[in-house]
Amino acid sequence: MKIQYQFSRDANIIFAKDMVCQVLSEESIRSIDRSAPVFVITDANVETLYGELFQSSLEKKGLTVYRFVSQVGEVAKSIQTLDQAFSFCIERGIKRQSTVIALGGGVIGNLAGMLAATVYRGVNFISIPTTLLSQTDAAIDFKQALNTTHGKNLIGTYYPPSTIIIDTALLKSLDQRFLVDGLAEGLKHGLCHDKEFIQEFVSRPQDLRDPAFLDWFVSQTVENKVKTMGSSGKSPRDEAIKQYGHSIGHAIEHLNYPDCLHGEAIAIGMVCSAMIGARLNVGAPGLVQIYKKLFTSVGLPIHVPSREQVPEIMEVMKVDKYNLNGLPTMGLVQELGRMADGNTPSGFTINWELVEQVLRENVSPNEKV
Ligand SMILES: NC(=O)c1ccc[n+]([C@@H]2O[C@H](COP(=O)([O-])OP(=O)(O)OC[C@H]3O[C@@H](n4cnc5c(N)ncnc54)[C@H](O)[C@@H]3O)[C@@H](O)[C@H]2O)c1
Ligand SMILES: [Zn+2]
Repeated sequence: MKIQYQFSRDANIIFAKDMVCQVLSEESIRSIDRSAPVFVITDANVETLYGELFQSSLEKKGLTVYRFVSQVGEVAKSIQTLDQAFSFCIERGIKRQSTVIALGGGVIGNLAGMLAATVYRGVNFISIPTTLLSQTDAAIDFKQALNTTHGKNLIGTYYPPSTIIIDTALLKSLDQRFLVDGLAEGLKHGLCHDKEFIQEFVSRPQDLRDPAFLDWFVSQTVENKVKTMGSSGKSPRDEAIKQYGHSIGHAIEHLNYPDCLHGEAIAIGMVCSAMIGARLNVGAPGLVQIYKKLFTSVGLPIHVPSREQVPEIMEVMKVDKYNLNGLPTMGLVQELGRMADGNTPSGFTINWELVEQVLRENVSPNEKV
């Protein structure tokens, strides 16, 4: 199966079952110029599992390959790590015709994307996502970003991969927690614009180790995400879908990572969004309960971590780039699979009192006095 989206140029998504570490198809490496060295960017965990195997699968195609291995986790999305990657590539003779390949989760996708976008003002970029979250979300994008001490994803650029190779066989080695975490963004698309997806998800046995389930979940979610990738990348409604649950979720992730991962934080953010929708009489009755049941059934968290953290969450939310006139702005779901029309093209501007009430109300019951 092949899907395409566009942002200044085409990005080809290729589904390649059991291929990445064995035999890469000619189609998947068509964008590589064989006259120049190829740079694989990965992290220490993925390196141990797949680094050599993947390098040899490229070398079998006659390519000269170098691997840059970063630390594991968000710390790799930093200017310091990018600088180390620049030095690594320049010392090994990277050329303008070279290709940078991301082999890893969303962190590596963003680090390699920033490298590919900026070295010689842009070289060919291929993304091979290896986590459920990156196969369904992070890699299917044109946004690349690094973190700063002030917050997540604050610096970045728009630079889509020329090719995204999705091989769900790579997910076999992923920890259960990261598999569960990876469900959140797919469920987000279902809740916002694909009711049938949620209905099928609920009716299927959700065995996260079952290749057939993973193939279904990944391919459906990729199709759903591509629908929100307008060629300008700037449709406010599509952006509101992609950002659904993120204004609160990002703040929770920023304050609690690695105790709270991206998808886990977004799940909590989506529950809070549904509660905000209920308070504004935008969301259908019962939506909050549907979310809570759905997320709890797969092991995603639903509660704000602690009462003490509520003011800090609001502080972090104040630097959210989607705020309008100092107020958080977010899409809200009206009924399962349908977003409501907001008071701005990007959704609803919400007053801080309501955000605070909902955050306090959604603290874990064990925390409440
Ligand atoms: N538009 C975008 O660019 C976009 C969208 C969504 C999320 N993101 C970013 O993605 C990042 C989160 O991505 P993530 O959840 O993939 O995190 P991650 O990249 O840190 O990977 C999670 C963990 O899984 C390990 N791992 C990766 N692949 C593995 C495999 N096949 N087998 C075993 N272990 C494996 C990693 O070493 C790491 O420990 C965040 O920084 C988030 O901001 C970016
Ligand atoms: Zn996200």
